[in-house]
Amino acid sequence: MSDILGEMRRTHNCCQLGVEEVGQEVVLMGWVQHRRDHGGVIFVDLRDREGLTQVVFNPQNIDSAFFEKAHTIRNEFVLGLRGTVEKRPSDMVNSNMITGEIEVMAKELKIFNIAATPPFQVEDRIDVSENIRLKHRHIDLRRPQMQKNLILRHKAAACIRSYLNENGFLDIETPVLTKSTPEGARDYLVPSRVNPGMFFALPQSPQLFKQLFMISGFDRYYQIVRCFRDEDLRADRQPEFTQIDIEMSFVGEEDIMSMAENMIKKLFSEIMNIDIKLPLLRMTYEEAISRFGLDRPDTRFGLELTDISDIVGGAGFKVFADAVKKGGMVKAINAKGCSYFSRKEIDDLTAFTAIYKARGLAWIKVKEDSWQSPIAKFFSDDEKAALAERLDMKPGDIIFFVADFPGIVNEALGNLRNHLGKKLELIDDNTFSFLWVTHFPMFEYDETEKRNQALHHPFTAPLEKDADKLAADPLSVNSRAYDMVLNGTEIGGGSVRIHDINLQKQIFDVLGMTPESYEEKFGFLLEALKSGAPPHGGIAFGFDRLISILCGQPSIRDVIAFPKTQKAACLLTSAPSDADKAQLNELGLKVKKK
Ligand code: AMO
Ligand code: AMP
Repeated sequence: MSDILGEMRRTHNCCQLGVEEVGQEVVLMGWVQHRRDHGGVIFVDLRDREGLTQVVFNPQNIDSAFFEKAHTIRNEFVLGLRGTVEKRPSDMVNSNMITGEIEVMAKELKIFNIAATPPFQVEDRIDVSENIRLKHRHIDLRRPQMQKNLILRHKAAACIRSYLNENGFLDIETPVLTKSTPEGARDYLVPSRVNPGMFFALPQSPQLFKQLFMISGFDRYYQIVRCFRDEDLRADRQPEFTQIDIEMSFVGEEDIMSMAENMIKKLFSEIMNIDIKLPLLRMTYEEAISRFGLDRPDTRFGLELTDISDIVGGAGFKVFADAVKKGGMVKAINAKGCSYFSRKEIDDLTAFTAIYKARGLAWIKVKEDSWQSPIAKFFSDDEKAALAERLDMKPGDIIFFVADFPGIVNEALGNLRNHLGKKLELIDDNTFSFLWVTHFPMFEYDETEKRNQALHHPFTAPLEKDADKLAADPLSVNSRAYDMVLNGTEIGGGSVRIHDINLQKQIFDVLGMTPESYEEKFGFLLEALKSGAPPHGGIAFGFDRLISILCGQPSIRDVIAFPKTQKAACLLTSAPSDADKAQLNELGLKVKKK
């Protein structure tokens, strides 16, 4: 053989070797993790995607030409080597290493490539900024945790595919160059050279195509598919992310939720060896907001919210009374035993709730025989007694209050609750707490745009019992949508869809669209609904979010091979970047620089 490998063909992965292989000749290939020169004997930890093996270059066992070469080895060099597996002397056994009982005595060495000194060590505990890791992502991905993450991601995708294949789902692709599908974010647009001045949108999800599959008779569809959304990024949001996208015909919400639960059960059982008890807990949207402030409650800890509007609505504290009078509310959280919080800690929590537009964070520290608080003086004895009872106030507690419109109160206290849960270490990282949130409102009123918006998407069916309220009181209509929540993260969401053209048109009306505009945007859907549309529904899981939870990683960026930064940029390739003048001309585009 005359290629660079010569007669060398890999026989084992680095972590496959143990005492059973002692005496065998093996060929390993990989990267140099560490090199140590111990007085004439060179030790190299060789790394491949499975792990590490210690290799020994001893001048007594290896030709001098190879030994000389071994002297030049540095970290991250790419090697191939032939050698014999030997048991380590008992005092040299490394119990931290899977292959710690053996070492490979090298007889032959090839250096496939040298390597520049890496910008950071290829190991898990490194102290470098994420931006440096992202710029050198090809090296970052060599780190054991990153290899573990992407291997787990692969296994999870394979497990999900096998579940869906076994259950009669068809994997069918949908276009990436397409028309805008509203999922609540901005679109990424792609200019069309052939049709100057016209644009494709990258799909925010394959929502309408999967509904068309149902209308075409492919009654169970899935795809593990890329979606694109131009939105404000956070740890659990990326501009391009992956969904496990599912749609089924002739089903109601029970069928879809049960199929989805069983898929998640199989995933956790196969990948994590964790048995999830079904059916999952269910909670209405109303209950979730009332108790936890958020529609994705983290149910691993307490600190629930309590409405005290009725007690303080008439009280002397003007901020509270005014809020209630204006149609708002006052809610509180009792942080049990936390009256030791310092002034600075309370100020920090106040600043935290201000992110969610709370205009203040009132507090009461419960002492043995009095309250310490800037607002205690405003309450009568009766009001104090009612508060103490409702909030289970005991000496040592601190109570936090927010007064405002319900949206702000719930958002601010819901996030404060999660923040306190972490700060007070109330969350057991080893629990997986699932629930379904159901009965979402169909619409919310958008103050800036002065119109109703769909809470899920405009193709979601209303609850049958609410449908007759659509015209007169649309904001009171609940939908047939459901979200799956895991540890406070929305990992999936879906709904039963509208399959009746008149109902679909009525929803577009409620959203403030004119017949011209919905014909222009969704004419193809309306045509399809006329052609014989079966009852159908589905769900999509955020695959990256699921994997980041399975891997115990705080950010979905750690489970995506080449993610974007918070500023939607790829530091590795420097995308996005300027376009050529010629390219722009061809597309008929002119760029206005800010
Ligand atoms: P939805 O918009 O709720 O529903 O999205 C489904 C799931 O996708 C995940 N997700 C994201 N993950 C990472 N980065 C993002 N920017 C991002 N946005 C959403 C979430 C979410 O639960 N077509 C509908 C589904 C359906 O009705 O069947 C849809 O896309 O985990
Ligand atoms: P003030 O009367 O503005 O000094 O406020 C007294 C206390 O009430 C302070 O601790 C404020 O943080 C708090 N506060 C002010 N506005 C609100 C509000 N909308 N909700 C809850 N607390 C508030």
